[in-house]
Amino acid sequence: MRKHIVAGNWKMHKNNAETVVLIEEILAKKQANSTEIIIAPTFVNLATAIENTKDKNITVAAQNMHQAEGGAFTGEISAHMLTSIGVKTVILGHSERRAYFYENDALLALKVDTALKHEMRIIFCFGEELKDRQNKNHFNIVENQLRDALFHLSKADWKNIVLAYEPVWAIGTGETASPEEAQEMHKFIRNLIDKVYGNDVAQDLSILYGGSVKPDNAQEIFSKQDVDGGLIGGAALKADDFLSIVNAF
Ligand code: PGA
Repeated sequence: MRKHIVAGNWKMHKNNAETVVLIEEILAKKQANSTEIIIAPTFVNLATAIENTKDKNITVAAQNMHQAEGGAFTGEISAHMLTSIGVKTVILGHSERRAYFYENDALLALKVDTALKHEMRIIFCFGEELKDRQNKNHFNIVENQLRDALFHLSKADWKNIVLAYEPVWAIGTGETASPEEAQEMHKFIRNLIDKVYGNDVAQDLSILYGGSVKPDNAQEIFSKQDVDGGLIGGAALKADDFLSIVNAF
């Protein structure tokens, strides 16, 4: 059966000392729970995060990764560099990467291939913009994103894929999809995966919701059948808020 996952995307927040403090708070307050907890600090603090979460049942993920194996790509980070320090999970396709760094699904398909080649697990983010929803084009947009970035994968590859549906209009805005809107889209996504890859892949796939998930709305969103967890931005930066979302299942 598919896993419940709550992942904290720390974005460009927390310096090294603050990373240690937040991890310590999370460790001190977290309760035994079958939900997987993932934290994604910035690149420079990944090694510290790995060290400070050793044997503590917290997964450390990177927020991005370059598609090349290595080479003259100033400022970039490779899959091999990440795995060499013990990072085996990577977030790809976050809407901020798409919007500010011009990442598109063709590029993301290359990143996905490289990550899988290195046996990394991918949290693949996608979702429509406000205009798409207003034009009632959101299902098409989501289907195209998944097709262009992921539908070249083999059935076996999907063991290492987690999806994160994040409507762009809900990220960092305080506005969230209603639990019904989230469920409607998650069900659409699971049906699509079922059609393309079969029911076993669809049923095993964790589909996270992201976009202004907070302690006061997490429980209702997570109660929906096809919502298997959340990708949390703002509320992941405070241990109490983050853990109350983790405990919302
Ligand atoms: P938010 O961010 O929770 O602050 O809306 C979610 C995300 O960017 O993954």
